[in-house]
Amino acid sequence: MRITVVGAGYVGLTTAVCFAHLGHEVLLVEKIPLKVDMLRRGEVPIYEPGMEEMLRENLKAGRLGVTSSLEEGIQFSDVIFICVGTPQSEDGSADLSQVEEVARETAKLMTSYKLLVEKSTVPVNTHKLIKRTVERYLKKKDVPYDVASNPEFLREGSAIRDFLYPDRIVIGVESERARKIFEELYAGFNCPIIYTDPATAELIKHASNSFLAMKISYINMVADLCEKVGADIKLVADGMGFDKRIGREFLNAGLGWGGSCFPKDVRAFIKMAEDNGVDFGLLREVEKINRRRIERFMEKVRSSLWSLKGKKLAVWGLSFKPNTDDIREAVSTKLVPLLLKEGARLVLYDPKAMENFRRVFPEGDDLKYAPDPYTAVEGASALLILTEWEEFQHVDLLRVKELMELPIVVDGRNIYEPSVMKQLGFEYHCMGRGV
Ligand code: UGA
Repeated sequence: MRITVVGAGYVGLTTAVCFAHLGHEVLLVEKIPLKVDMLRRGEVPIYEPGMEEMLRENLKAGRLGVTSSLEEGIQFSDVIFICVGTPQSEDGSADLSQVEEVARETAKLMTSYKLLVEKSTVPVNTHKLIKRTVERYLKKKDVPYDVASNPEFLREGSAIRDFLYPDRIVIGVESERARKIFEELYAGFNCPIIYTDPATAELIKHASNSFLAMKISYINMVADLCEKVGADIKLVADGMGFDKRIGREFLNAGLGWGGSCFPKDVRAFIKMAEDNGVDFGLLREVEKINRRRIERFMEKVRSSLWSLKGKKLAVWGLSFKPNTDDIREAVSTKLVPLLLKEGARLVLYDPKAMENFRRVFPEGDDLKYAPDPYTAVEGASALLILTEWEEFQHVDLLRVKELMELPIVVDGRNIYEPSVMKQLGFEYHCMGRGV
């Protein structure tokens, strides 16, 4: 099948590359010329495991093309996946101007049937706005079209696997013609495929992300309680997680959720509910709990070091989660300024995100970047862990201890066993493991 994908962000790039991998002919439309050039050369502007290899393979096979012309994209195929950004507006709602632009341009240019598919996360009933826009700009041209919602559930860091082997596929369609196209497109997928109306599909996406954020905030509150009563949050999560109705995933306590999706989507969902006369106070609390994680962590740093002034601290992990170089709404972006404000001298290390971080936080007298985790801890009064990169699980901890001035570790992601750390001679502080 021929497919057009508009927007080469995480979702668009993964959609384009994966559909091409599955044998479809794909044209990816991207506005930013620099990005187009990079992609054509087979270079991926973000770090995502496996993406570059797959991009190159499909460019070479001629199944994937990249263009900056939306017009070309619209003429290329009947199926147009809208994967453009939906950033946050000042009032917390999603800014849908890029979605509107694709709908408008498609309507102006189309001369035959088009299926417009929302893949970006959008507020419920956005499909209606897309339809209204298409109607307006068609200017009574008699060309058939459909609008559908097919939300994407992939995670950064495991985007390709999540796309190719999803837990489910959700498709909100209104016509038999559109449904047939999706049936063909997803024929090879071995997972439940749920057909709904578009509004339901749109809501499933927002409700899922907010639920996952709620799960994390919930376990973080339980973690606080564990510390007070001397219980172990990892075991509590295991014990809860075996219940199939609960599930163990997304019950990892720590510094809370960041990234380009959860913070924006939870806010947009609250706003959307409010606009429709529903008070989603539960989610406001979920957000509040998440914001407090930073302070909880700072309390641990302060209580283990007393004063931070002039102390050298090593920080491991800057990305909002492992296996990505993405630092959007990462805990590190909030903690680093707080630590600097209290007078700490920081040496930062991250396997992939240092370049992005350095752009926002340039090196200075009190802020240095280390080429590896060991250099970062040299002479440090404490090591702070903000992201659970696998690399940190395999470091030589005895060497780390010897390099440090004081063997204090404040681990915001619970990557080590407290008993092992104690045996190695560390003073180890983690999240919710009071035993
Ligand atoms: C999230 C969803 O998981 C995807 O299903 C969705 O498609 C995506 O948003 C999106 O809407 O585009 P992502 O933001 O890439 O994916 O990353 P997650 O793996 O969900 O992690 C989000 C945050 O939660 C990270 O900061 C992570 O450290 C934190 N987290 C996750 C926890 O603190 N504890 C956990 O148990 C799990």
